Amino acid sequence: PPAMSWIKELAESATLTSIPPSYAYSAPAAPSLREHVIHDSIPVVDFSLLMCGTPDQRSKEIHDLGKACRNWGFFMVVNHGVPEDMMKEMMDGCKGFFDLTAEEKREFSGKNVLDPIRCGTSFNASVEKVHCWRDFLKVFVHPQFHFPHKPSGFSELASEYCARIRQVVRGLLGGISESLGLEECYIEKAFNLDSSLQVFTANLYPPCPQPELAMGIPPHSDHGLLTLLIQNEIGGLQVHHNGSWVQVNAIPNSFLVNTGDHMEIFSNGRYKSNLHRAVVNRTATRISLAIANGPSLDTVVGPAPELVDSESHPALYLPMKYRDYMEFQQGNQLNGKSCLDRVR
Ligand code: SIN
Ligand code: FE2
Repeated sequence: PPAMSWIKELAESATLTSIPPSYAYSAPAAPSLREHVIHDSIPVVDFSLLMCGTPDQRSKEIHDLGKACRNWGFFMVVNHGVPEDMMKEMMDGCKGFFDLTAEEKREFSGKNVLDPIRCGTSFNASVEKVHCWRDFLKVFVHPQFHFPHKPSGFSELASEYCARIRQVVRGLLGGISESLGLEECYIEKAFNLDSSLQVFTANLYPPCPQPELAMGIPPHSDHGLLTLLIQNEIGGLQVHHNGSWVQVNAIPNSFLVNTGDHMEIFSNGRYKSNLHRAVVNRTATRISLAIANGPSLDTVVGPAPELVDSESHPALYLPMKYRDYMEFQQGNQLNGKSCLDRVR
């Protein structure tokens, strides 16, 4: 099939007043896109207290972190130490990448879902029924750092940013280990974080003439352990919580963090990998930058033995190699929890 054109180019064509049928969800999926969207407060974790608070402050943060993982699978992290300027420059770098010409971007298009640099449109255009109102750049940045060499300076900045994110992730995973009653370094050791897979995904969601019919990204859960997301000033992320969609109103300069499928598997279901989605709007371009942090690709992930008890907590998931899981998840349609169902 001919390559699909970038949604950015489609959206910029001045005459666009309705979306092509291949981007439109039909009833009953479409009306449900905007149903039950509520505003609720997402839990907040203070990273500085987690890392260097008094023992009391630290145990409160660990307790709150555990509660957020159990009840929401989602939280915001403040006082994380990553400079605001750097976060802003990263957003500018993402914009700069999408502003490259189609010809320039072609060099980075990739072919297979596990190619280290891949950009394109929608999610998985060849298998999905309805396309996503989204362009993306997806790069494997750890244990080997790959990155497009354009726009100039972006690669160096991204390398530094991703290293800082790994530090935050290490701290959060220490707190999460403790919140599960395990040693602080349990997850770090079990998943060999020194060779952890880190995947950088920049998303661009241009204005959409019929936002009520389209989706930036339909509901899905993430692979990996923790995803850290930042966005430009335009909202659009919604998190599934207690049967409703909750619109996320981000605290400026915070990280929006969600626990991934491998955290749910590792914790034997105590912590949930939540469903989330990105909606689009009529007037503004939204850019988000999600960094997914997982185990190393060769780690076989199953429930932690300490969290399995044949009587009260039987193992809920089958062990699976992270690489196999990734390949399956990335190669399929995004349809809710299908990937976790594969290891249940
Ligand atoms: C994602 O879930 O992969 C991206 C969500 C967003 O753009 O906020
Ligand atoms: Fe996601």
